[in-house]
Amino acid sequence: MHSHRQGTSLLHLDASASGRGDSVTRRLTARYADIWRGLHGPAGYRYRDLAAQPVPLVSPAFVSLGIRVERHGTVPLPKVAELAEGPAEEHEWALTLPLITELRAAGTVLMGVPMYNFSVPASLKAWIDRVTFPGAFLDDGTGDRLLRRTKVVVVTARGGCYAPGTPREDFDFQTPYLRAYFTDLGVAPGNLHFVHAEMTRAADVPALARFTPLAADSLAAARTAVSDLAGERAGRTPR
Ligand SMILES: Cc1cc2nc3c(=O)[nH]c(=O)nc-3n(C[C@H](O)[C@H](O)[C@H](O)COP(=O)(O)O)c2cc1C
Repeated sequence: MHSHRQGTSLLHLDASASGRGDSVTRRLTARYADIWRGLHGPAGYRYRDLAAQPVPLVSPAFVSLGIRVERHGTVPLPKVAELAEGPAEEHEWALTLPLITELRAAGTVLMGVPMYNFSVPASLKAWIDRVTFPGAFLDDGTGDRLLRRTKVVVVTARGGCYAPGTPREDFDFQTPYLRAYFTDLGVAPGNLHFVHAEMTRAADVPALARFTPLAADSLAAARTAVSDLAGERAGRTPR
């Protein structure tokens, strides 16, 4: 039943507003996906382009359905539809349930995440807000966290550099945010991986020109890290 959690399914999300030719994160996640499909075959691969096909922002009906579900305690996913009142809430649930099902089924979640204004793209935030429905990632019987064996690989790209010890370290609201989010959702810290491509705009921004070698090194290291992560077994059992 949990065979999908042993590395045979991959949910690949991209959020860059740029296309494949111009996007560092899209190229890096594509590399991961290619290696992964080479090892596991195409059957368990799912792709979602959050920038090209945005997830609708949550609406009043999404919120009211969520509050009703919270008042009932932990509601099994198939029973949420019974609590929906009226067409607006039914519509919201129809938009939401497939995204939740997709995330729950994933052995590995791979995300391409550009830094936009020190944080994540709005397209990714829209997915996060919708998929994080009350109780959706808890076992309704035991209360166990369903994503504790899920491997999450976040590939970021930043125009500048936010590495530890750099002047802009404290401006990184992307990595700490995603770490807090996925940990709180139940992903084991040992199954959560970040790969950063820093200084991606060094070749474009004259003030950053001196960092061009740093950018090249960071990208090379990111490529290696992506290949290594794609080649390893998914979802280690947390301690
Ligand atoms: C809307 C927007 C906002 C951005 N904000 C930042 C930022 O706050 N800090 C930064 O270092 N780079 C910023 N950048 C640069 C991107 O992080 C950089 O170009 C990165 O490579 C984008 O990922 P991609 O190559 O996968 O599209 C921004 C780019 C865009 C388009």
